[in-house]
Amino acid sequence: MVKICCIGAGYVGGPAMAVLALKCPAIEVAVVDVSRSRIDAWNSDRLPVLEPGLDAVVRACRGRNLSFSADVDRHVADADIVFVSVNTPTKASGIGAGRAPDLAYWESAARVVASAAASSSRSRSGTKKSTVVVEKSAVPVRTAEAMERILVAHGGEERAFEVVSNPEFFSEGTAVRDLLCPDRVLIGGRDTDAGRSAVRAVRDVYAHWVPEDRILSTTSLWSAELSKVAANAFLAQRVSSVNAISALCEATGADVSDVARAVGGDGRVGDGFLSAGVGFGGPSLQRDVLCLAYACERSGVAEAAEYWRQVVAVNEYQKSRFVRRVVSSMFGTVAGKKVAVLGLAFKKGVGDTRGSPAVDVCRGLLGDGARVTVYDPMVSEKQARKGVAARVQVARDAYEAAQGAHGLCVLTEWDEFRALDYRRVFDGMQRPAFVFDGRNVVDAGKLREMGFVVYAVGKPLDDWLSKGTRN
Ligand code: UDX
Ligand code: ADP
Repeated sequence: MVKICCIGAGYVGGPAMAVLALKCPAIEVAVVDVSRSRIDAWNSDRLPVLEPGLDAVVRACRGRNLSFSADVDRHVADADIVFVSVNTPTKASGIGAGRAPDLAYWESAARVVASAAASSSRSRSGTKKSTVVVEKSAVPVRTAEAMERILVAHGGEERAFEVVSNPEFFSEGTAVRDLLCPDRVLIGGRDTDAGRSAVRAVRDVYAHWVPEDRILSTTSLWSAELSKVAANAFLAQRVSSVNAISALCEATGADVSDVARAVGGDGRVGDGFLSAGVGFGGPSLQRDVLCLAYACERSGVAEAAEYWRQVVAVNEYQKSRFVRRVVSSMFGTVAGKKVAVLGLAFKKGVGDTRGSPAVDVCRGLLGDGARVTVYDPMVSEKQARKGVAARVQVARDAYEAAQGAHGLCVLTEWDEFRALDYRRVFDGMQRPAFVFDGRNVVDAGKLREMGFVVYAVGKPLDDWLSKGTRN
């Protein structure tokens, strides 16, 4: 029986291994983590990751061929294939702070693999056992080289390890669906006999449920590593492109939705990922653009680094100009005024506020002295205060948030914000009642008829707003 171990029971490792276990009943899958509380949560009825359908998948496999354990060394030593799925945030301090990925967790995982697997490098039959180590986390291009050096340093002369890159592409909120039916599975390895055989071993696992033509397994290690960060950078770049157009639309009277429809109608461009808004967020896009830019810089291609950094710069601009628009519309000051914020998650369908533009907008408004009250259907009070600031108020619903407010900002595209009774919202607000729609979800025409002053990203400004300060 093939044994798989995954180091890191987080947002990526947990769901990815649960689906793998579901689809490969003959493979034993152990997910390990240094965090005992994370492991306890995976073994409980309240999983640490909320994804539609995940509970059912875990229930079907846990105790059968899927286990969650804090005994990292034992499971790593036992495994034929070790997936490494630990976090790689952007460095907060030191060399490359704010630009380079922090590989500390990743290196610690490599050392665990090296010592655990080396101590049991003889297989049950007494022959030298080779462990396939799979990079699952997004890592900078050529990270496998460092991994190989750590592994070989511990493993002695014989090559007991083969490193393969198999990045994960699922999106939050649709993890199970994406994992069951991926657009593609990418596997990159060394162009040697051992490398090809390691890639085959990983390919055989996915072949249990993914059609052959969706498994891309002739890629080099470096291409596979780079493809992951490049894919996220392209997604981020599309959002920044349409957001840059949205700023020009507001200045000229064009409508960004019309422009995006026309541009995306060209099959070569495609119509996905072209919704203008208050900026992209989440744990991955910005991290990977910065990672790509840093790799360019380190590789002596400074112009390319600068190009990618602009994607993040436009995102920052989009968030700060939204805050400026709120302040300038409300007579140049929000000091002491109540502002309601609907939506704190970085996109609808998730309760995750990591990298959320809503968090930055809240901080900007608080910085200008506003009294901010937030409401998000999936973000708890504790999480909201932790994510934004202790002094933020948290409401139980949108109406409570809007009660007595001078302005209302829609920052996550939850369906319930489209369907609010805006008449009731209007009645509870101060006059003039402002709506700042950062996701283009409200029916601006109807709201204006009710008496609201409405700003919507990338849409023609009404008279009130166009007379305000240019931003
Ligand atoms: C992303 C990638 O999509 C996924 O392939 C990768 O594995 C992980 O990173 P995720 O972070 O879950 O997934 O979110 P995604 O759906 O990509 O959205 C990212 C951000 O872009 C969100 O804040 C979203 O609101 C924003 N966005 C997206 C826009 O502003 N406009 C769009 O048209 C699309
Ligand atoms: P991702 O979104 O990439 O999955 P998370 O932060 O959700 O990131 O999860 C990463 C997990 O990896 C965390 O639960 C963390 O405790 C775990 N981890 C980090 N380093 C190690 C290590 N050396 N050994 C085991 N687990 C680790």
